[in-house]
Amino acid sequence: MDRIVVTGGNRLEGRVAVAGAKNSVLPMIAAALLTDDQVNLFDIPPLDDVFTIGEVLQRLGADVRLHQPGTVTIRAGDLESCEAPYDLVRKMRASALVMGPLLARLGRAKLPLPGGCAIGSRPIDLHIKGLRALGAIIEAGHGFFEARAGRLRGNRLYLDYPSVGATENLLMAATLAEGVTVIENAAEEPEVADLAALLRKMGARILGAGTKVIRVEGVERLGGASHRAIPDRIEAGTYMVAAAITGGDVYVANAMAEHLDPVIAKLTECGALVIEDAGGVRVVGPDRPRATNVKTLPYPGFPTDMQPQFMALLTLADGSSVITETVFENRFMHVPEFERMGAEIIADGRTAIVKGVPRLSGAPVRATDLRAGAALVLAGLAAEGETDVWGVHHLDRGYVNIEGKLRSLGAKVARVEDRLLARRSS
Ligand code: EPZ
Repeated sequence: MDRIVVTGGNRLEGRVAVAGAKNSVLPMIAAALLTDDQVNLFDIPPLDDVFTIGEVLQRLGADVRLHQPGTVTIRAGDLESCEAPYDLVRKMRASALVMGPLLARLGRAKLPLPGGCAIGSRPIDLHIKGLRALGAIIEAGHGFFEARAGRLRGNRLYLDYPSVGATENLLMAATLAEGVTVIENAAEEPEVADLAALLRKMGARILGAGTKVIRVEGVERLGGASHRAIPDRIEAGTYMVAAAITGGDVYVANAMAEHLDPVIAKLTECGALVIEDAGGVRVVGPDRPRATNVKTLPYPGFPTDMQPQFMALLTLADGSSVITETVFENRFMHVPEFERMGAEIIADGRTAIVKGVPRLSGAPVRATDLRAGAALVLAGLAAEGETDVWGVHHLDRGYVNIEGKLRSLGAKVARVEDRLLARRSS
C-alpha cells in the first residue's frame, strides 16, 4: 500500500491552483446518459472517482474518452445495458447517480444495493422514494434495486433530508419526465447548481437550482453540450487549512470565495487572515490558531467534507473546541489517528471536544476515507518529525497530486510506493 511521508515544520508559502469540483463532475458525467448526443466536459480532474464513474458509463455502453488536459467527452448513443456493475458501485457510492438518468432515458435501471462506507451507512432511500413518486416501479432483491418505468411523470417531491445525491438524481430524472416536477427541501450545494447549468445547456427547463425549491418542466429530449465545472471548494478549503496550520502564506488560485463562506469565517475566528480577490483566496496563518466551535450542516452551513481538515487545525489551537458532525453518523474515524500524533480529543457520538495541544508529533497513521486522509497530511505538515500516512488510495479519489502541490508550497512531502506490491504487480 502506498503511503505519503510528511516531514513537519515548514511554513507553506506560494501559490496553488485547484481543479474542477469532483462533486460536480461525477453527476455531470452521469447526466450525459440523458442524451445520445456528445457531451464535452472541461477542467475535469484525473481522479480515481472520475475514472470509476467513467467506467460505469462504458459498461453501460457509452463512449467515454479522457483527453488531455482535463477534457472528457461522452456519447451515450446506443446503451447496451441498464445495470451499474457491482464491482464499481461497491467502490463508489456516487455510481447511484446513474439511476435517474437511466430511468429517464431507457425506462429501466439495475443498481446494486449500496454497501456502507467508512463514514456511515449512507442509504439511498430518498433517491428511491423520489423516483417512485415520478412513476418508477422499484423492487429490491438479491442485492439489487430493479427499476422500470414508462415515461416518468412530473410530481411534487419533498426530501426528508436535503440529500445532495438524491437532489441530483431526481433533478436529472425530472428533466425528461412528462409535466412539471417540484423538488422541495432540495440540497443547495453549488455542485447542484453547476449540474443544473449543464442540464440547461442540454435543453432542460430548470428554475431554482442551488435553492431549497427546484422547479423542472420536463421536455421530450435533451441534446449535447459543453461545460466547464466550477472549482473544487473542498480542495480549495484543504489548501487554505494547510496555510493556517503551518502559519504560512498561501494563495489558492481559482478558489471561489462565495462557495467558502463558512470555511473563511471559521479560519478568521482561528486568527488567520483571509484575503479574497477575483482570482482566488489568500490565507495567512496565525502563529497559533485560536479555538473555535464548528457544526457541520448542509450547504450553506459548514461543509462536512471540511470537518476532518478543520479538526487537524484545532488540535493545535490555544484552547478547547467543540466539533459537531450533523451530516454523517460516523465521521470521526480520524480521531484515534490524531491521538496517535499527540492530539487530545474526546469524541462521543456526533460531538468531539478538541483540547488544543502546543505540538503534535509525527507518527505512522492510516487514512480511513478521502477527507480524513487529507486531514492527516495536514496534521503531518505541522507535526514534529515524520508522519507516514497509509491508505493513499483514499486521497487519490479526491485530490490530484496532493504531494506535488504541497511540495510546490515548500512542504517536505513524498509518496513512497510499496515496493513489495509494485514488484508483485510487475
Ligand atoms: C455528497 O454525498 C458528496 N459526494 C459527499 O462528499 C458529501 O460529504 C455529501 O454530499 C454531503 O455534503 C458527492 O457529491 C459525490 P447526501 P451524498 O446524500 O450525496 C443521508 C467527498 O468527500 N441520506 O447529502 O452521498 C446520508 O446517509 C464526499 O467528496 C439518507 O439517509 O450525501 C448522509 O447521512 C464524501 N438517505 C446524509 O443523508 C438518502 O437517500 C447526507 O447524504 C441519501 C442520503
